[in-house]
Parts: sequence; C-alpha cells; structure tokens
Amino acid sequence: MSIAVQSERERLFEPLTIRGVTLPNRIVMSPMTRGFSPGGIPTDEVAEYYARRAAGGTGLIITEGVAVDHPAALGDAGLGEDNIPLLAGEGAVAGWRKVVDKVHAQGGKIVPQLWHQGVLRKPGTGPYPEVASVSPSGIWGPLGRVTSVDPKSIPQDPRVGEPMSEEDIEEAIEAFVRCARNAVDAGFDGIALHGGHGYLIDNFLWEGTNQRDDRWGGDRRRRSEFAAEMVRRIRKAIGDDLPIFFRFSQWKQQDFRATLADNPEELAEVLKPIADAGADVFDASVRYYNKACFDGSPENLAGWAKKVTGKYSMAVGGIGINQGMYDRGKETAAVTDFEPLLTRFANGEFDLIAVGRSMIGDPNWARKFRAGEEPRAYSLDDNLSLS
Ligand SMILES: Cc1cc2nc3c(=O)[nH]c(=O)nc-3n(C[C@H](O)[C@H](O)[C@H](O)COP(=O)(O)O)c2cc1C
Repeated sequence: MSIAVQSERERLFEPLTIRGVTLPNRIVMSPMTRGFSPGGIPTDEVAEYYARRAAGGTGLIITEGVAVDHPAALGDAGLGEDNIPLLAGEGAVAGWRKVVDKVHAQGGKIVPQLWHQGVLRKPGTGPYPEVASVSPSGIWGPLGRVTSVDPKSIPQDPRVGEPMSEEDIEEAIEAFVRCARNAVDAGFDGIALHGGHGYLIDNFLWEGTNQRDDRWGGDRRRRSEFAAEMVRRIRKAIGDDLPIFFRFSQWKQQDFRATLADNPEELAEVLKPIADAGADVFDASVRYYNKACFDGSPENLAGWAKKVTGKYSMAVGGIGINQGMYDRGKETAAVTDFEPLLTRFANGEFDLIAVGRSMIGDPNWARKFRAGEEPRAYSLDDNLSLS
C-alpha cells in the first residue's frame, strides 16, 4: 500500500462527534437481521458477536432490526424460527444492556435499529399472529414490479387491509418512542430508525403505499410527517445528547425501481422535515455506493442527503464486496480497490461508511482495512451462524 493510499485510509479513522457522542472512527457495521435472539432476548452469543466487531476496529455498530413494541411490528422474516430481538420487557432490555456493555468495553459505540415491518409483515405470523398488519393506506404497493419478495407472499390484490386510523398511527409512533426510551435505559449511544426497504416508515414516505389526503399523506412533505413526528417525539424522549440515525431508500422490496425523489429538490422535500425534527445522520441505503443518484452529477444518494439537509450522511452498499445485495449473478468476493470510496470520502461526500456483508464475513474488517490486509471473504453460509 502506498503512503498516499495509507493516509487516505487514515481519514476514515478520525473520530466524529455527533451531539454528545464521539464515534472513534467512521466505520459503521450496517444493520443486519440475523435471528439469534430466542423469545426476542439477545443472548451472550449475540453480545460476543457484536463485541468482536468492536474489538476488530468498528467505530459504530448499528444492530440488526429490533422489532418495536407493537403487536403488528413483526412477522415471519423468513429465517426459520426467526428469533428477531425486541427492546421491551425486562429480559430484552437486560439482554441488550449486556450487549452494550461488551461493545463499550471494546471501545465501540452501538445504537439499535428500531423496526416495524408495516405492510410487508406476513399476515398470521409473528408473536401476535391474530392481529392485522398495518400500513397508511392498506395498500401493499403496485404489483408486477421487480421485487425481492417471495412470489408466495405477493398478494393478488394490492389492497390488503384498512388504512391506519389516527389511533393506529398514534400507537405505532408511541411504540417507537417507548423503545427509544428503553434503548437509553439499556445504555445505547443513540437510536437508528429503519425508514427504508418497504417497511412501515417507508410505507408513509412512498406514494405507492401512501395515498392518504390527511395530515399524514399528500405531497412529499406531508408523506414525511409520520417520520418527522416520530423523530420529534423520540428527540423529546431521549434528550439532546444522543444522535438519531435515519435509514431511507429509494428502492422498496415491493419495487426495486421505485424512487422517493427524482432530483435534489424532491429529495429535500422528503428529508428536510425529518432533519428539522431532530435527525442527525441520514443513512442512504443503496446497493452500490459508487453509483450516481441523479442525472448530471456523480454524487451518490448519501452525498445528496448531506447536501440537501446539511446533516451528516452515511454511505453503504457494496463496500469491500463485488456485488450488491440481492444480486446472485456470481460468487461474492472481497474487493480490495478502495480508491473510489476514498476519493468520495476525501471530497466530503459523506461522513461515515457502513459495511454490511463484509463485516459478517470478517469481524476484523475495519482493522484489516486500515492495515491494507485482505479480509476473510463473506459467503452466504456465514448467515447461518454468529461467528
Ligand atoms: C443478512 C442481512 C440482513 C440484513 N438485515 C437488515 C436489517 O435488519 N435492517 C436494514 O436496514 N438492512 C438490513 N440489511 C441490509 C444491510 O444493512 C446493507 O444495507 C446491505 O447488506 C448492503 O450493504 P453490503 O453491500 O455492505 O452488504 C441486511 C443485509 C443482510 C446481508
């Protein structure tokens, strides 16, 4: 590794202070559902799994999606017995406290990703199979699109339920707020919200699933009101010291080619209300970080999120791995050419990088990246255990 490349890498190991929390460096473990928490309670094995990543040099861990305290938050996620963690009830909060302590002992920071599956929850499954799935307009999304959803789970009719009532919306928001408070009790360093991929928060953001004409729907700004109200209340509940991360995506599992915004002005309409409400970092979920987001400029979605909100942003998607999530064209392999990433980072396009599969493949990914050593490559089988 040349000295120039080495020093470009070092820039990713500078700390970043967001509100009252200092991240030791810019390398983040991307949120990844694993399903190893029986009864919703993270085990010692889960604590060791995350602590290994912190010991391996990762500055911030965003946990796997954690189901919020709402009966329709969680259904069968296709992981066999599932075992998705919760963040409510003594057992789950105590389990997370152990995870947090172990990560802190290794010098890392950690935030939970709060998750509600919304219209993608499989009816009749999860801890409360009897309750109906909830979404803003009771609409699954347009049919016949390019999708990652198992064909057996795609409905025949896009209308799958009733629009949420005011009371339903209030309950869903409060479920997130309760879990945010519990996260503070467990010692977490902030909160991450899953606002992408076709789940509940995204169901409000996307016109394909939000056709309301009240306070919660209409144009882009109004479709952001659910997320903004949630962020406002979480900010009030957790105080001013802890950062709030907000993940969003153009693509939905129901429609890979969907967009929330087709130009920077539209993106500002979506994100500004959420930024103004108190979100600090926009986590722009794309499958290839190195792709231009809008015509006429090379910047990626994280770059534009930062520009239009003035907040921090995080890039993700294909960092250290040769193909995007969901692509099955070839064997995955580690990528060691970081020049495009380092150039974008040096240009100030984004402030943090999130690493997904590569970080499952090698807990020491961050340390090896810094040293210019080749990490252990990820393979699909790695998903089957917590190594
Ligand atoms: C096994 C697995 C589980 C995932 N679970 C989640 C999740 O719970 N929440 C989320 O926002 N993204 C989830 N993702 C997406 C990742 O956070 C990340 O955005 C994606 O893998 C792209 O990054 P990569 O190319 O570095 O893997 C998951 C990805 C994988 C591979």
